[in-house]
Amino acid sequence: MRIERLDGPFGVEVTDLDLAASPDAATLAAVNRAFVENHVICFRDQHFADPGDFAAAAGLLGEPMTSVTATYRLPGHPVIDELSNTAVDKRTGDTTPLRRGGSWHTDHSNLECPPKATVLYAITLPSRGGNTEFTSLPQAYDTLPEALRGQIQGKRAFHAYLSRRAPRKLLTRTKAEEEGSSGCWQPLVRRHPETGRDGLYFNAMRCDAVEGLDQAAGDALLDALYEHADRPEFRYSHEWRRGDVLMWDNRAVLHQATFDFDPAERRYLHRILLRGDMPVSAP
Ligand SMILES: [Fe+2]
Repeated sequence: MRIERLDGPFGVEVTDLDLAASPDAATLAAVNRAFVENHVICFRDQHFADPGDFAAAAGLLGEPMTSVTATYRLPGHPVIDELSNTAVDKRTGDTTPLRRGGSWHTDHSNLECPPKATVLYAITLPSRGGNTEFTSLPQAYDTLPEALRGQIQGKRAFHAYLSRRAPRKLLTRTKAEEEGSSGCWQPLVRRHPETGRDGLYFNAMRCDAVEGLDQAAGDALLDALYEHADRPEFRYSHEWRRGDVLMWDNRAVLHQATFDFDPAERRYLHRILLRGDMPVSAP
């Protein structure tokens, strides 16, 4: 196995490792170390004869969990979601493509224990474009102006399923799905449970309020944080290759899909979420 830096401020790629060939415990420990220290890890040239083999490989890296909505589950594989650029909200009948993942977010942060990681496997890719982009939340926190830092220390934000301020729509939930995902308070500065590093933690798709602030003041604070985190120097943009398995740390990065390719082309990936802890505030 070789681990090398990707072309960005963070992120590594792994070559000469076949996830389908049951890597040993020492190799998996080295992979996890590289993952938590670098936020994003790309396993090149992976091949799975069956989607179940991808789920088994993801199971070596964490504990797969089901997503909030069942609509995109791959039939016969409850922990695998299909990600496609042609997805629409079948429940409302609206035929406008949803552009799933098309703005900065961290996955399922409206759950008390959001997934620690997301793993994607590229199956069909457009001829160019369709990158997945990441921004580093520890880096954003480290460079935060003092005045902003003082406003968020020890504070929490409320993460709803869909914020009244979200820049795009999400799939409509069923009543049963609503019950398990109505939202919760999360710290704005989160201590990483494995590295101990502090980072910002928020989600423009979901954050609806800041503890102790009225709506206007909370919105202004969140906007200032969003603006600060969205900088080229904190960003890695992943240009997909066939066979890539890409895993990122939802505790340390925001991510977004890009839709800069011909919509007549297909972008199709499989997604697995890995179970995570309840976020802990930095003291
Ligand atoms: Fe996502």
